[in-house]
Amino acid sequence: MLIQEQDIQQVANEVINMLHEEEIQVINDFYDAVVAKDIDKIDELFKVVMFDIEDHFKTEEDMMEQNNYSHFQVHKSDHDTMREKLKKFHKRWEILKGPTELQGFLEKDFKKWLILHISKWDTETALHLANSN
Ligand SMILES: [Fe+2]
Ligand SMILES: [Fe+2]
Repeated sequence: MLIQEQDIQQVANEVINMLHEEEIQVINDFYDAVVAKDIDKIDELFKVVMFDIEDHFKTEEDMMEQNNYSHFQVHKSDHDTMREKLKKFHKRWEILKGPTELQGFLEKDFKKWLILHISKWDTETALHLANSN
């Protein structure tokens, strides 16, 4: 398991909390396959991860736009940074099939980013959404 539920801050919006809960499950399954160096499973779950992350980010961005959130661009550009990284690692995976590289990325980069992103941007955005309703 890469991320425990208690690592992730709860925010003031239930939709966003649900997105995070689902994301943690998907990432943990993926991480287990990476640690086990199960190439077929990683192939399969990497696609699920890409789909799930896009759904997570896009749903938040749609909610921000609908509510005229003033820091939309900054929050979105933090998503975009991670989108680019994931795309890069997915491309490298397709060619190299290197689980060790993926494990390093998940442990050293992705986990830290997700925890920080949620405690800063998602928390602030959820508060804005709560106050504008
Ligand atoms: Fe989020
Ligand atoms: Fe976000």
